[in-house]
Amino acid sequence: MTLHEHDVIVVGAGGAGLRAAIAAHEEGADVAMVTKLHPVRSHTGAAEGGINAALREGDSWEDHAYDTMKGSDYLGDAPAVETLCQDSPEETIQLEHWGMAFSREEDGRVSQRPFGGLSFPRTTYAGAETGHHLLHTMYEQVVKRGIQVYDEQYVMELAVTDHGDPEDRVCHGCIGYDIKTGNLNGFVANTGVVIATGGPGQLYAHTTNAVAQTGDGQAMAYRAGAPLQDMEFVQFHPTTLPSTGVLISEGVRGEGGILYNSEGERFMFEHGYANNDGELASRDVVARAEVTEVNEGRGYENDAVHLDMRHLGEERITDRLENIIHLATDFEGVDPLEEPMPVKPGQHYAMGGIETDENGATCIEGLYAAGECACVSVHGSNRLGGNALPELIVFGARAGRHAASGEPASSQIETGPSARTETSNVDAPVELGRVGADAVTDGGTLLDATPNEVVDHTLEQERERVETLMETDGINHADVRSDLQETMTENVNVFRNEAGLKQALEDIRACRERYQDVGVSDPSRTFNTDLMQTIETRNLIDQAEVLTLGALARTEFRGAHWRESHQERKDEEWLKHTMVAWNGGDPELYYTDVILEGEEKEYEPKVRSY
Ligand code: FUM
Repeated sequence: MTLHEHDVIVVGAGGAGLRAAIAAHEEGADVAMVTKLHPVRSHTGAAEGGINAALREGDSWEDHAYDTMKGSDYLGDAPAVETLCQDSPEETIQLEHWGMAFSREEDGRVSQRPFGGLSFPRTTYAGAETGHHLLHTMYEQVVKRGIQVYDEQYVMELAVTDHGDPEDRVCHGCIGYDIKTGNLNGFVANTGVVIATGGPGQLYAHTTNAVAQTGDGQAMAYRAGAPLQDMEFVQFHPTTLPSTGVLISEGVRGEGGILYNSEGERFMFEHGYANNDGELASRDVVARAEVTEVNEGRGYENDAVHLDMRHLGEERITDRLENIIHLATDFEGVDPLEEPMPVKPGQHYAMGGIETDENGATCIEGLYAAGECACVSVHGSNRLGGNALPELIVFGARAGRHAASGEPASSQIETGPSARTETSNVDAPVELGRVGADAVTDGGTLLDATPNEVVDHTLEQERERVETLMETDGINHADVRSDLQETMTENVNVFRNEAGLKQALEDIRACRERYQDVGVSDPSRTFNTDLMQTIETRNLIDQAEVLTLGALARTEFRGAHWRESHQERKDEEWLKHTMVAWNGGDPELYYTDVILEGEEKEYEPKVRSY
């Protein structure tokens, strides 16, 4: 067991983590990244489409902010949305200055394309592999700066003091399991820990997300006392390959690709789902339209519809979307130059996450979060395509800078349970949380402990957890995980109803109870993925519960959250953020206000049509 000490520890090395590390380093901090994957293998590399940034004449950050608020179905917080849209151009230009290989026009300007829900073609891209280029560009900067990267280190838990009130707690570091050796390492952060671990796509059986996307950061922060916000809002991307979930970029529709049902109808227009924007309506609208077509008998096999791009011509496709040819051919056996691609909605993105302010700060001193694992909140109930990558760079940079300073900064967004404006009395069919409650124990033994003692104490706790899992002759975590994915896919998908959500909570409870009996059968101390995935599965269970509880409570239809018996957006009652706090193992559901007041204007909720 070793203790490593740095000023800033960044957990996760995708787009948000890399940007945070660079920013903290620029502030003069000694920064280290601790990550279960090598940086360039992070899931950001799977982001295809692009970065929304108001770069061109005729466009403005104000229009970007308007589109984003509308896309969010008015559940985004205006200060965060305006920050995103104001900072995105500068951050995008910074990437270009670092050498990112953006696609370009004949005149040399970086190319931009239309994307869903945008009033201007402002999605800046590098072919259909923007995330891949973004990762490599920023990783080069990390290497150039000599930032220490501890890779193949799976962060299992945060080291946090155990004050009863989470708003009094301090995060002093984290514990990493060295996948290569099986050793546990403590990481002490002098000024801040930034969580940038991505989304929890593995909650679902059909997802665009990599197998590593288990939302570890959300689960750790939640158990440490930082509330999870708006977790019920899950994005189902309309164009994923049916057999694998591999993403077919919205860039295909941005370039002019067309969706057809099995009757040859261009259903987005012909069935009136989006009479103005058609295929380029926002993602929640297109995903629901596809599932409706399939449910009404106008789909193809495997619950698919068809996406056709042949009319764009080989030259344009090869120039702007070459990656799509390879993905469709390799993963679906379909050559999209010759025939339409079968596509269906798949889990793609979590709009919710760890509650933060505009600086990435959580309610726990020294703990920050950025990127998909965080909820600042810029996406509200539905994210626009092309708004995830700017979120990574804009809020990654801010979180890194603030973590380096170690000082609280002024913020318009309040965090923590004391920001609650309303408690909730949802009728959950089962008891929540508790079983196996661990992490911060509220024992009060660490109140006066030094940072090293807090990390040491957590290290010992985690060592015991690993030993217990290794010594238990129990069931395999994979059985629990697949049951969890099955109920989430069946009951907490594009279309939701009360009975299904209650069933899901019962199933999640059963998974939690069965998890008490899991054991790791692989005795190896090196590359023991059985052990790592067993720990990940616990994280998934905690998040599934939060997500489903919020979804059951929210009796309205807003953005990506559709409810069978509640077919309207109810602003009087539901213009509020869902929060769930771990509360020592007794999850507490409460609400906070949405901020619609921007710098110079109020974003008044309007009917949302495309
Ligand atoms: O469709 C896509 O290329 C994905 C983009 C995004 O999620 O922002």
